[in-house]
Amino acid sequence: MSEAMHAIEPAGVAPEEIPRVYARLAPIYDVWARLTESRARELAAAHVRDGEDVLEVAVGTGLAFEEVVRANPNGRTEGVDLTAPMLARARRKVAHVPGAHALQLGDARALPFPDAAFDLVLNSYMLDLVPESDFPLVLGEFRRVLRPSGRLVLVNMAELPPRLRATFVWLYRRAPRLLGGCRPVALAPFVERAGFRIQRRDVVTQLGVPSELILATAR
Ligand SMILES: C[S@@+](CC[C@H](N)C(=O)[O-])C[C@H]1O[C@@H](n2cnc3c(N)ncnc32)[C@H](O)[C@@H]1O
Repeated sequence: MSEAMHAIEPAGVAPEEIPRVYARLAPIYDVWARLTESRARELAAAHVRDGEDVLEVAVGTGLAFEEVVRANPNGRTEGVDLTAPMLARARRKVAHVPGAHALQLGDARALPFPDAAFDLVLNSYMLDLVPESDFPLVLGEFRRVLRPSGRLVLVNMAELPPRLRATFVWLYRRAPRLLGGCRPVALAPFVERAGFRIQRRDVVTQLGVPSELILATAR
């Protein structure tokens, strides 16, 4: 990591507000998300191996989910999200994509799946909006639903260059909903503490916005 790590900003959007905030963002979400994050999502979806049981947590409007289902025509792909209007858009994107898939309302803090049900769990741009105090609970849920040989792929907003960071933090503290509640998070220590071994970390920058990809395996 080239940028110095800072303390994580307190989450600007409370968990109970998330469905309301994202219901409002849903109609315009894909514009910003494609412009600044499409490359990171592609790299995350490249970790799918056809024939596996795959779970994407917080599918949003389905930008990555669609790629994941396409990459897994002989497997099973499940997805959950907390916000019904985001999920409705994801449903439309995959309606005609071949391959077994299912989408449902669900909370990353209490996943509606049994233990050891998946080979791969993907989660993009969600932990960067939830409170730091929820990281252990959420990562513990990812660990619980993964098989012992399972892989976890996380994508989140990474540390910003110093000048951009100062402006971003200024805006985030005043208008976090405008930014979808997302702020830079350094997740590696939390991932390790949750019982994963980190295999790879990459930073991809698109239109000046850096995203960190973490590939981890259950230890
Ligand atoms: C910034 S969007 C990211 C969506 C998608 N992963 C992507 O890359 O475009 C954040 C999404 O996380 C969802 N979300 C936030 N907290 C959640 C939770 N605890 N459980 C499930 N989904 C959650 C929101 O409803 C929203 O759709």
